[in-house]
Amino acid sequence: MLHKKLKAFPQDFLWGASTSAYQVEGANLEDGKGPSCQDVKEVPEGTSDLTVCADQYHRYKEDIALMAEMGFKTYRFSISWSRIIPEGTGAVNPKGIEYYNNVINECLKYGIEPLVTMFHFDMPAALDKRGSWSNRESVDWFLNFAKVMYENFGDRVKYWLTINEQNMLTLVGPVIGTLTIPEGCTNELKEIYQQNHHMLVAQAKAMALCHEMLPGAKIGPAPNISLVYPASCKPEDNLAAQNYNAIRNWLYLDMAVYGVYNNLVWAWLEEHNATPEFAEGDEEALKSGHPDFIGFNYYNTATCEWDDGSEELSQAVDQQTARGEAGMFKGFKNPNLPTTEFGWEIDPMGFRATIREMYSRYRLPMIVTENGLGAYDKLTEDGKVHDPYRIEYLRKHIEQVQLAITDGCEMMGYCPWSAVDLISTHEGMVKRYGFIYVDREEFDLKTLDRYRKDSFYWYKKVIATNGEDLSD
Ligand code: BG6
Repeated sequence: MLHKKLKAFPQDFLWGASTSAYQVEGANLEDGKGPSCQDVKEVPEGTSDLTVCADQYHRYKEDIALMAEMGFKTYRFSISWSRIIPEGTGAVNPKGIEYYNNVINECLKYGIEPLVTMFHFDMPAALDKRGSWSNRESVDWFLNFAKVMYENFGDRVKYWLTINEQNMLTLVGPVIGTLTIPEGCTNELKEIYQQNHHMLVAQAKAMALCHEMLPGAKIGPAPNISLVYPASCKPEDNLAAQNYNAIRNWLYLDMAVYGVYNNLVWAWLEEHNATPEFAEGDEEALKSGHPDFIGFNYYNTATCEWDDGSEELSQAVDQQTARGEAGMFKGFKNPNLPTTEFGWEIDPMGFRATIREMYSRYRLPMIVTENGLGAYDKLTEDGKVHDPYRIEYLRKHIEQVQLAITDGCEMMGYCPWSAVDLISTHEGMVKRYGFIYVDREEFDLKTLDRYRKDSFYWYKKVIATNGEDLSD
């Protein structure tokens, strides 16, 4: 649709950026924090471990002051479960509560709305030992953690996100370092979708509890949504795209919003004897969630073609790689899209298409909780970081958000990844996303000082003009 006049971003649009606890905080075993699965995993060769990260635990004041300087309206960060409850269940760590109180208060001091992710890839290691999400009790563990957060922070936190990228935990858990399969398991697909089911129930219950305990607060899911294109206009490629859209995207949002399983995914799981078991009350619990908005991460679209099921397909490399499922779809490299230095396709127009599709399916306001470009940034001798490629990427994506708003989609905010440089899920420190440069290398911690990148100044102007001025 060509628009003659663009609608402005809403006056209360939440401009900000995101991070996650295990990737940015460091201090991973300090002040009573228990280890999470991220602290005990084997990190990919050549990449840093997660002990220091960007050291935000000790530098949150400086980081939040820089965010305030950029004019942030919101800061999306996550709360580390094992910093709050070191063993995952049981005793609460007062130092953990104190730390997040400090972060929240520091944000509020500058008028920055905290947007809190309750769970971002960091299951307490103690709960991993008890079977992680495979254990039915995980629903109660999570609900208890949610309750502790609502009790301690609910007087000040108005926006909550449940589980970051539950779809990626399910589809590419090993890449992120989160998949635990119990010994003796004979049907891995069933096990993974049982874990997924527990997360879905936990999420729905946490949303219902939020509404009960914090009537003024808003809560939503935060999956990674990438619209899937068919590789061609062949009818079978279109079916393949529908299949992958269902497996990758709609399963999670159909559940969060309507509390029902996507029928295509259910049929596929039936084929593999992999449908999850429902415990008593799950059906009602799933329908009781009712998110107030949808948070979603967008990096690029996916493309796929028909698969006749005759051969074994390669598995996904990471979050943004369309994998294959025999007889369902096969990943296809889209020849129309450029890629980042790390091989992720770049598709700003697909961002608009993704937003339009989500809005027509769910009719809820949306906030972008991640979007961004990972690159090898370089600090110059005079303390500058010239990152025109990041400005270009973000500009093109923000333009598409405005077009989607003009299309009639309700958008609440935009939080790119990431506020500060941090450790990537599997590609280390060298894959930088931040507006704020952190002076460290993969293994050499250097000064950990902060520097404003060129994109810092650019984003400051974008926010100051409420998205009207996107020029350099
Ligand atoms: C998302 C995650 O998948 O993408 C983040 O929510 C992650 O945790 C981000 O860091 C970028 O991915 P990567 O693999 O480049 O770190």
